[in-house]
Formats: sequence, structure tokens, C-alpha cells
Amino acid sequence: MGKITIAIDGYSSTGKSTVAKQLADWLEYVYVDSGAMYRAITLYAIEKGFISETSFDSDKLIKHLPEISLTFVKNSEGKAEMHLNGRNVEKQIRTMQVSEFVSPIATISEVRSKLVDQQQKMGEGKGVVMDGRDIGTVVFPTAELKIFMNATAEQRATRRYKELIERGDAVTYAEVLHNVQERDTIDTTREDSPLRKAKDAIEIDNSEMNLEDQFHIILQLAKDRIAGR
Ligand code: DC
Repeated sequence: MGKITIAIDGYSSTGKSTVAKQLADWLEYVYVDSGAMYRAITLYAIEKGFISETSFDSDKLIKHLPEISLTFVKNSEGKAEMHLNGRNVEKQIRTMQVSEFVSPIATISEVRSKLVDQQQKMGEGKGVVMDGRDIGTVVFPTAELKIFMNATAEQRATRRYKELIERGDAVTYAEVLHNVQERDTIDTTREDSPLRKAKDAIEIDNSEMNLEDQFHIILQLAKDRIAGR
């Protein structure tokens, strides 16, 4: 059967990656978490001292971009993990510190163009589910299925807070809510590829939806698109 490209965009912590992984597993497609790539570049910038609470040297980061290599490597359970210059950074890229700096880093056009090139190469053969902020608008504007996910900021912060607490991170709900809202603002107002619903995307608000219902709605949409090819 012909393969399609599935683009899943939306606000922070709307559960994009959960449903994208479920779809990719079910359809036997490749799943790509594009946010992990922005997070890995952010970790690199933090480690090199290019970004901190008090400073942000985007020029230095831009100069170092050719030295940054990002790869997804499957672990023993078959889960793809982010590797930065050959080092597994899957855990480090999910911290609050990286979440705080990732949106400013994602405003840099040179960063975006490096990552968009790599993402487009990953999707060349179709059969890919990619989640992010600009997948349906910039990375794969001709994707056969585009989903735009939304939920209230409070719902999203509650889910994210639970995840971080379960991982043992010392965060407060207020910090997480603030981070979610701040990322929404930066992601939607940046000049280069702001977060927007593509004209042909289907919007899903999952504030009151359980994971199973959401998966079945999106899977049906995918099956319809595949059948229609
Ligand atoms: O999906 P995520 O929360 O892990 O993404 C982290 C940040 O990366 C998000 O706040 C904005 C940025 N991002 C982006 O600008 N474009 C993408 N395609 C994916 C993520």
C-alpha cells in the first residue's frame, strides 16, 4: 500500500509525540520528534556557554552549527533516542533548563534551516510521522495528512508537570505553566516559521479527550488518506 506523510503540529505539551508514536507503530512508519532536534541544539548551546540566564550569543552558536551532528539511534527496546555528536542526550534534553531556552534557540533562522534540511531528508521516502511546530507549514507542506493539536494551557501544564514529577524533577506546577505559556508566545510570534495551523490541517482539541479516542480519530483519518492515494 502507498505510504503517506503525516505532519502533527501544535502547542507545547499537547500530546503530539504520544499520538505520533502510536500512529507510527501502528502503520509501521518512522516517527521523528523534531522538537528533540531543537532541544539537542539547545543543550549544546548551554554546555558551550552560548546561552544562560544572563546571556545569549546567537552568533557563536551559528558559527558552531556545522560542528553539530544530530542522529536518532534506537535503544534496546526499539525506541529512537537523540544523540548529539555521538552522545546519547535523550534524558538531558527533557529537563526544565532545556525547556526554558529552547524557544529562543528555535527563533534562529540558521538553526531552523539546518534542521528543516535534515528533517526533509528523513521524510524523503514518505512513511513518516513527524511532530513539531512547522511540519505542515514548512517541512512537509504537501503532507497528505496534517493534524493541529490544541488543549488549554492548564491541561497541558498539568500533563507535563506529572511527567516531570514522575521522572523525579524538582519543579512546581506554576513553573511548568509559566514555561508552557512562554513557549506558546515565543513559538507563535517568532518571525521565521511561527507556529500556525496549516490551511489544510485538521484541528483537534484534546482537553477533554482520552488518549484512546484521540488515537482512533487520527488513525481513521490516516487510513482514509492512505486509501485515497
Ligand atoms: O515539541 P517540543 O516541546 O519538544 O519542542 C521544543 C521546542 O522546539 C518548542 O518550544 C519550539 C521548538 N520547535 C520548533 O520551533 N519547531 C519544531 N518543528 C519543533 C520544535
